[in-house]
Amino acid sequence: MAAVIIEMQNVRREYSVGDTKIYALRDVSFQIKQGEFVSIMGPSGSGKSTCMNMIGCLDKPSSGTVKIDGKETALMNENELAVLRNKTVGFVFQQYFLLPSMSVLENVMLPLRYAGIPRAQRMQTATEALKKVGLENRMNHRPHELSGGQKQRVAIARATVTCPKIILADEPTGALDSETGRSVMHMFREINETGTTVVIVTHDPGIGKSADRCIKILDGLIQND
Ligand SMILES: Nc1ncnc2c1ncn2[C@@H]1O[C@H](COP(=O)(O)OP(=O)(O)O)[C@@H](O)[C@H]1O
Ligand SMILES: [Mg+2]
Repeated sequence: MAAVIIEMQNVRREYSVGDTKIYALRDVSFQIKQGEFVSIMGPSGSGKSTCMNMIGCLDKPSSGTVKIDGKETALMNENELAVLRNKTVGFVFQQYFLLPSMSVLENVMLPLRYAGIPRAQRMQTATEALKKVGLENRMNHRPHELSGGQKQRVAIARATVTCPKIILADEPTGALDSETGRSVMHMFREINETGTTVVIVTHDPGIGKSADRCIKILDGLIQND
């Protein structure tokens, strides 16, 4: 039996906006095992991105516990959290977030720089990652010279270049046409087949169903059906 790699226990996240409280996550509990391919699906505003930010330690719960790779994130210091975000988790976003002034290759090398890898090895490893997503002929281009699907493939190469145990993708196909979206999902499937845990956040039922398991969320609550 695979180990649990992501565990949310009674997680709540509320925001205060003026006098109003917004309950983004009301009481969320679930587990994801190592090597799973899971989607978190729900309509806009249901709490998906808040949930993903918790898993990636970009945000902290108002109450409840989040355990990643066996460690309770509330007990980790900033340095340990930074290492977790760099080494354990790879992020992919709808808007790509590539750095416009850097080449494709430099964008993919960046997480390796934060990980302290020497430059020659960074170039080699990043080149390999770009080959895997079919972009070896675009390495010296700038992001603005690429199509949306190509940009997302660069983002996937960047997210996987440190060989993280978990890939978190927030609406990764949201800005793509449906055929390009399917090819991006195929890429996540290939990454999952190497043993990486993949979590896709989506409002699109078609994308949600292409994962092996779908966790449904509505108004900050998990829907069991
Ligand atoms: N920084 C914030 N301040 C106030 N409310 C927020 C903030 N971030 C998210 N919310 C609210 O929390 C709810 C869940 O948001 P989010 O997790 O982004 O949903 P989703 O990703 O499913 O569209 C929404 O009602 C949203 O407006
Ligand atoms: Mg969102």
